[in-house]
Amino acid sequence: MTTTLIDNIGLLVTHDEERPEIAGAAVLIDNGVVAWSGEAHLAPAADERVDASGGCVIPGFVDSHSHLIFAGDRSDEFEARMAGRRYEAGGIRRTVRLTREASDEQLLANATRLVAEARAQGTTTIEIKSGYGLSVADEQRSVRLASTLTNEVTFLGAHVVPEGVDRDSYVDLVTGEMLAACAPYARWIDVFCETGAFTVDESRRILESGIAAGLGARVHAGQLGESAGVQLAVEVGAASVDHCTFLSPADIAALVGSDTVATLLPGVEFSTRQPWPDARRLIDAGVTVALASDCNPGSSFTTSMPLMVALAVRDMGMTPAEALWSATAGGAAALRRDDVGHLRIGARAHLAILDAPSYVHLAYRPGVPLVKSVIDR
Ligand code: NIG
Ligand code: FE
Repeated sequence: MTTTLIDNIGLLVTHDEERPEIAGAAVLIDNGVVAWSGEAHLAPAADERVDASGGCVIPGFVDSHSHLIFAGDRSDEFEARMAGRRYEAGGIRRTVRLTREASDEQLLANATRLVAEARAQGTTTIEIKSGYGLSVADEQRSVRLASTLTNEVTFLGAHVVPEGVDRDSYVDLVTGEMLAACAPYARWIDVFCETGAFTVDESRRILESGIAAGLGARVHAGQLGESAGVQLAVEVGAASVDHCTFLSPADIAALVGSDTVATLLPGVEFSTRQPWPDARRLIDAGVTVALASDCNPGSSFTTSMPLMVALAVRDMGMTPAEALWSATAGGAAALRRDDVGHLRIGARAHLAILDAPSYVHLAYRPGVPLVKSVIDR
């Protein structure tokens, strides 16, 4: 068992209530866990030393929303949107066709490459959804492949109703045979509760069936307009409701004091030219806010959590400290995890060393690869 001292840290972000940030710091890692942190000159001896060269050390990003099991490219849709076309949920069916045609090896290679891309940008925990299979065999294959890459696997058979299938029989399938085939590989169930996808009644049935099968609930809602899905998420005790671009005052009131995190996905607004979600309004009301990438080939093809932080600061009214919290501790709350997303004593040693003196640079120097190295033992 070796201990590692990360030394010469310009600024350490712990998210500890007493000491959320420490200047001139060091961190001791023992057996994959944060065992000590404080001023560098007080650091205990260790078996090995990592020099942070005066850079800022942050908890690894917790990306609580991605759709990485897919094949194909939809850059033509992005190009058309930039020329004025609206985003349509129907594009999902195009990816479904290509995903079904792909081999396991192709799907896994694509997702593995994207997980590595995310890690190089500081992501040390990532949630991965199915949702581009939409048949029992293809959804089971998606959650099975995802489970080889992360423990945070989400069954999203209820992404859209597939082509040529009657909607009532599809909801029966998702809540029956498909759920039974996928639940052993998943921790979560999700539903796209939006016009063009699933109604609030269908969504309730889908989420309740998943909960009865032992899964935790998550919901996609408020992406394209106000949606009853936000209050449904609170009603069923979902860990997170994601998008929240359009929220009514009643939605915010329901989120306040609930255990449901509002997860904002600014990559979607960037890539679909939608209005930015109002993070300020949520935080001021007392809602827990997370930031995630929603990496998928249709509405947000990026794995970059530093970009989410930059957009949240630039366009969503968040301070750099709030955006960093939401991209780390907020993501952990959205996954109901307390071992990651912070660097308090006892946390998993999941962290990123920045080539910058402060996390403010994540927004101040957008598009610059500031993550120098990642530790995730
Ligand atoms: O989270 N909103 C639904 N699902 C994805 C989009 C998927 C797609 O367009 O392929 C999302 O944005
Ligand atoms: Fe999504």
